Amino acid sequence: MILSVVSGKGGVGKTFTSLNLAAVLAEAGDRVLVVDANFTSPTVATHFGVTPDTHTIDEALAKGTYNPMDLVWIHPAGFHFVTPSFNMVALDDQALHTIFEMLRPLYANYDVVILDGPAGVGRDVYYTVMNSDAVLVVANPNYPSLFNALKTHHFAKQLGKMVPGAVLNMYRKGCVPVDEASQILELPILSVIPEDRSVREALQKGELLVKYRPSSPAAKAIYDLAEALTGKSFRRKKSGGLADVLETIKRWLFS
Ligand SMILES: Nc1ncnc2c1ncn2[C@@H]1O[C@H](COP(=O)(O)OP(=O)(O)OP(=O)(O)O)[C@@H](O)[C@H]1O
Ligand SMILES: [Mg+2]
Repeated sequence: MILSVVSGKGGVGKTFTSLNLAAVLAEAGDRVLVVDANFTSPTVATHFGVTPDTHTIDEALAKGTYNPMDLVWIHPAGFHFVTPSFNMVALDDQALHTIFEMLRPLYANYDVVILDGPAGVGRDVYYTVMNSDAVLVVANPNYPSLFNALKTHHFAKQLGKMVPGAVLNMYRKGCVPVDEASQILELPILSVIPEDRSVREALQKGELLVKYRPSSPAAKAIYDLAEALTGKSFRRKKSGGLADVLETIKRWLFS
C-alpha cells in the first residue's frame, strides 16, 4: 500500500502524522518506508536533527545509476526513510517523473510506503498523489485549512485515487466542530489529534511523539488513526508511571 499524505495548506502536521503513523505501524511489525516528497524543502531528516548530503534522492538522480538500498536511512523507531538533500531547487516534470520511477523498485521491500507530501496542489503534489494508491488528507480545524484540504481531496479524486478520510490535527476547544469539518471536507474524520505541547517537546528532543510520550493525547490519536486506516487494533503503551503523572500535574499547573 502506498499512502500519500497531503493537505493543501502547509504546516498543518503532514510530516508529524506521517512519521508517527510510520512508527506505530513499524512497532506492530509492518515494514514501513517513508519518502520525504518535499523535494525542494525536505523536513523528514531534520526531524531527527540530520541534514544528509549523501545517500540522498538527488545524489541518485545525478548519478543516474544507483543501488536503491543506498538511499535508505533507518530510523530507531523501526521504519526506513529516503530523503533529498538540501540542494534541490525547482524540479521540472521530467525530474519528478524520474524520481518516482527511481524509487518504485524500493517499494517491493515494504508493506506500507508513506509519501509525506508537499503543501499546495502544484506539480510536486500531482506526482506524489499520482504515485500513491490512497491519499490521506490532513487539515487543521479552521476554514482556510479545511477549504484548501477540500481542494486537495477533489484533486486526488480527479486523479482517480482512493481517499479513505481525513485527519483533523491541532484540535482545540473553540475551533470548527468535528462534524462541520467532516462536512466541509466531504470526508469521514479518521482521527482528531489534539493540539498537544508534547508534540513540540518531542520534536525538540529529536524523538517521535509515539515513542517519547506514548500516553499523550496526540499519540493516542495517532494509534486511532492507524486503526482507522488498517482496521487492525494496535497495542497501546500503558502510562509511563511517575513521569506521566508529573507531566499531567505540570499541564494542570501551566495550561
Ligand atoms: N497535534 C499537534 N500539536 C502541537 N503541535 C503540532 C501538532 N501537529 C504538528 N505540530 C507542530 O506543527 C508544526 C508543523 O507540523 P509539520 O511539520 O508536521 O507540518 P507539515 O504539514 O508537514 O508542514 P509542511 O507543509 O511545511 O511540510 C511542527 O512544529 C509540529 O511539531
Ligand atoms: Mg512536512
